[in-house]
Amino acid sequence: GLLKVDKEPVTVLVTGAAGQIGYALVPMIARGLMLGSNQPVILHMLDIEPAAESLKGVKMELIDAAFPLLRGVVATTDVVEACKDVNIAVMLGGFPRKEGMERKDVMSKNVSIYKAQASALEEHAAADCKVLVVANPANTNALILKEFAPSIPEKNITCLTRLDHNRALGQISEKLNVHVSDVKNVIIWGNHSSTQYPDVNHAVVTTSNGHKPVRELVADDNWLNTEFITTVQERGGAIIKARKLSSALSAASAACDHIRDWVLGTPKGTWVSMGVYSDGCYGIQSGLIYSFPVTCDKGEWNIVQGLKIDEFSREKMDKTAQELIQEKKLAMSCL
Ligand code: NAD
Ligand code: LMR
Repeated sequence: GLLKVDKEPVTVLVTGAAGQIGYALVPMIARGLMLGSNQPVILHMLDIEPAAESLKGVKMELIDAAFPLLRGVVATTDVVEACKDVNIAVMLGGFPRKEGMERKDVMSKNVSIYKAQASALEEHAAADCKVLVVANPANTNALILKEFAPSIPEKNITCLTRLDHNRALGQISEKLNVHVSDVKNVIIWGNHSSTQYPDVNHAVVTTSNGHKPVRELVADDNWLNTEFITTVQERGGAIIKARKLSSALSAASAACDHIRDWVLGTPKGTWVSMGVYSDGCYGIQSGLIYSFPVTCDKGEWNIVQGLKIDEFSREKMDKTAQELIQEKKLAMSCL
């Protein structure tokens, strides 16, 4: 049957679109996985000169895929053209981490890119543009973008920790042999780095007898307090070791989840993790982009308040905050 689609298209920018996450992400966006199956989209794809030819090839494939929701494709190396009237910006552009590098090793290469692109977004994007930074160091790149785009509301600038959140759900699901969609309300606190704290203290599993705490179902406290945490913290590195490339399909999928929940809302009783501008809650110093549990409604995220934090969690939440403070200093000194 013919489905009448008459919504105004939403313009989505993907930077670094010729890269490996971009190649997985743009078809997801064009299929409606990010903004909904009845939401037409216009894709703006930005990359740099050495990747221009490859970016053209991606555009050709998007046309060849004949996506019903795709109303236009711009492939460009001009940051001004790329940012023009953009409603959603997904920032993948940058230099990825290679085997043996920590995410902060890519710092100096990436912060200067984020400073320049902040200005272009500020001047040319839609006033209510929502920004998701994926490129590493994701939290600090997002912070630099925020600092150098003062007219973009700070609530509109976020970074991706949804991949870590989904990884945590996946580990619990495997351990308990339950469906991943029956696990919810894990939390990723802090930095998208190996100091992040994946917290299961409030996580639950939906069973035939209602919700059961993960802490009750996983009898092995030791696993939850050690191996579970390090597996999630080090999963990015494990993927790099196995693929010789960093995660791409899972990162693209998490980016869709992040934007979809932000724009369309989180399901009732469910929270997700997002890297957002801290306001001092949970004792995390303000002025950092730190991952918190959030619920989203009508295009706005709000940090889940009032969760009880035990001593074990407190120490880990502070440690990852300390790393972000150091990264912020280092980033500022690179500029
Ligand atoms: P990639 O190297 O395949 O692609 C990056 C693309 O960015 C390349 O095409 C490159 O030409 C382009 N680029 C470089 N400088 C640019 C600039 N100034 N403007 C526009 N484009 C530019 O890398 P990838 O595997 O697609 O990963 C992208 C980024 O995402 C990396 O920084 C990676 O570390 C990060 N990452 C983050 C997460 C997360 O969960 N936050 C997960 C996976 C990967
Ligand atoms: C990931 O978490 O997979 C990415 O951030 C890549 C990396 O550097 O670990």
